[in-house]
Amino acid sequence: MTVVLRKMKISDLYTIEKIESLCQLGTWTMDSYLHEIRNPIARYIVAERDDQILGFAGAWCVVDEVQIMKVGVLPNYQGSGLGTMLMRALDHIAIDEQCKQMTLEVKENNTKALNLYKKMGFVVSGHRSHYYPDGMGAELMTKILISKQARKSKK
Ligand SMILES: CC(C)(COP(=O)(O)OP(=O)(O)OC[C@H]1O[C@@H](n2cnc3c(N)ncnc32)[C@H](O)[C@@H]1OP(=O)(O)O)[C@@H](O)C(=O)NCCC(=O)NCCS
Repeated sequence: MTVVLRKMKISDLYTIEKIESLCQLGTWTMDSYLHEIRNPIARYIVAERDDQILGFAGAWCVVDEVQIMKVGVLPNYQGSGLGTMLMRALDHIAIDEQCKQMTLEVKENNTKALNLYKKMGFVVSGHRSHYYPDGMGAELMTKILISKQARKSKK
């Protein structure tokens, strides 16, 4: 399938709120995402095919660190590489903005997400007990980014 990645825009927010709910990402509303689109440190992208948004991801760039905020793919499209595409796109954004590391929190029993993040090079760097409202703990994961400069000099 031909999927296009692009910046999230205001007209996407109705669908984004639906994905938030279908993927059980949390309780953010269209207003929360509107705030994010206007937040100067936030970077949000969507994966779209034939004008249908299949997933999205977002992060905050704080000085030289990126905090992953959201990653969600519509249930029917999970397992087809979209999560990987979205995470790679955030990687590129972070490297372009000269960030040095990425961090995130993930529910300790979210196997799919844990596997995705490990595949993308994240390692577990800490644990927060009872972090989520349902009592589950969070794994803190970190990834050190290699700058474009360092990549070139390795070749
Ligand atoms: C986590 C999520 C974003 C992954 O997106 P995706 O499009 O399914 O991911 P991909 O197809 O690119 O798969 C990436 C990796 O995830 C893992 N994965 C995918 N499906 C899996 C499954 N059913 N069981 C276990 N691991 C799985 C694999 O390691 C896979 O890599 P591989 O295909 O090379 O083996 C998606 O499952 C999702 O939206 N889940 C609900 C929301 C959520 O949990 N978001 C993260 C909150 S921290």
